[in-house]
Amino acid sequence: SAAYTADLVVFGGTGDLSMRKLLPALYHSDRDGRLSPETRIIALSRGGLDDEDFRGKVDAEVRDQVPAGDPAGWRRFVNRLHHVTVDVGVQNADDTAGPGGSGWDALAALLAGHEDRDRVFYLASPPRTFGTFCREVAAAGLVTPRSRVVLEKPLGHDLASAQHINDEVGAIFDEQQIFRIDHYLGKETVQNLLVLRFANAFLEPIWNSLWIDHVQITAAETVGTPGRRGYYDHAGALRDMVQNHLLQLLCLTAMEPPARNDREAIRDEKVKVLQSLRPITGGEVDRFTVRGQYVEGDGMPGYLDEPGSTPPTEESCRVETFTAIRAEIRNWRWAGVPFYLRTGKRMPRRVSEIVVQFKDVPHSIFPGGMPNRLVLRLQPEDGIELHIMAKEPGAGEVTLKPVPLSLSFGKTFTARVPEAYERLLTDVLAGNPTLFMRRDEVEAAWRWIDPILAAWETSTELPEPYPAGTAGPEGARELLGRSGRSWHEEE
Ligand code: BG6
Repeated sequence: SAAYTADLVVFGGTGDLSMRKLLPALYHSDRDGRLSPETRIIALSRGGLDDEDFRGKVDAEVRDQVPAGDPAGWRRFVNRLHHVTVDVGVQNADDTAGPGGSGWDALAALLAGHEDRDRVFYLASPPRTFGTFCREVAAAGLVTPRSRVVLEKPLGHDLASAQHINDEVGAIFDEQQIFRIDHYLGKETVQNLLVLRFANAFLEPIWNSLWIDHVQITAAETVGTPGRRGYYDHAGALRDMVQNHLLQLLCLTAMEPPARNDREAIRDEKVKVLQSLRPITGGEVDRFTVRGQYVEGDGMPGYLDEPGSTPPTEESCRVETFTAIRAEIRNWRWAGVPFYLRTGKRMPRRVSEIVVQFKDVPHSIFPGGMPNRLVLRLQPEDGIELHIMAKEPGAGEVTLKPVPLSLSFGKTFTARVPEAYERLLTDVLAGNPTLFMRRDEVEAAWRWIDPILAAWETSTELPEPYPAGTAGPEGARELLGRSGRSWHEEE
């Protein structure tokens, strides 16, 4: 595979995302030969570090996360690292520009003479800094025709703020140069979903409302939000997980076959799905959505008592750490098929999966059968399972039993399964935006989310409490139960 020559400039380069995800992913890319010897990684922060300080920090904090036994490779990687102290002129939470930034001259000096290589500005910083960063980097003359910009989530907190950010970034970079990250799109099983659907003939004829009863998309986490309340109080599960990750999974599950495996063809089909989502507004919000917040349970503190948190505010009491939604797609293929979305913190198990529940056979000649079910698991282990009915061995009465036809990627393929960020960073370096969200996609997703947020914000009810370590509030069970359905793991 190709080795890329680029200057990768990471704004927020000493932050949590950079240390936990980006740098380990870049190390693996380096190890797999995808970074040319000249490629440099330039972290920007306000931290006042020099290159040596930063290399020492990465050595201390990142080295443990990557495989041991490659000291030469690690040294080569660390030598690519640079640090420049930059302060963008954003001081104000309301996004009005503060005094102009500083540090751009030092960055310009480092980049000078390398205008012919790809230049990637990776913004791993809060979204209110995106616009200012872009303006200042452009004013410093650092945006070349071969530049790209990568935007981390969250992209705004509602449609209007997302449009504002998109306008600001769009004033400096062309849409073709803008890479909006949703790291779920980099997960192996998510990409495999497209291969499963469009490189196999047997699924597509039954992939519709004639054969499918409903779809469940779950991202359950065992972690809580310790130390993250500052962010999470203003986010909540709907903004943090549904607007982006779960809706992307829904798009890939529901989209029409694109004509080509190409960036625009795939994204065109995804945006059509988002535009076909039936709006959930006003009084319907209570019927089709559930909110929960974890309270103390199983030896774990509740959301409001997480260590390192500030005293709870009214906002903290209202924020959802769990949500379940019954979505519908209004088009020919999916009319009448509910898509149940669910995500939560402090659930009993970490599992992310898409469950496609088929309808029962039209006429059963055996007692006790169960409808087929296809499970695409993203986490904890990538895999695909098709639950089929089989006869239990025995000479007596015929007894049916559901058994899985099961594919474990870990067992079937020997290659290391890369982390989502490795795939996505490789695509950024290659200039391939297929697995990144286009502006219209992000905005269509917010357009569907906004009325739900609005109804929740004006609701007199608080989220339903659920004890930490349990599968969310009772309301989530009822959401399916009232039509005689149940969540996958409850059977
Ligand atoms: C992030 C959210 O986007 O995704 C986090 O901000 C969440 O709250 C994380 O924990 C989950 O990612 P993954 O890859 O662990 O499922």
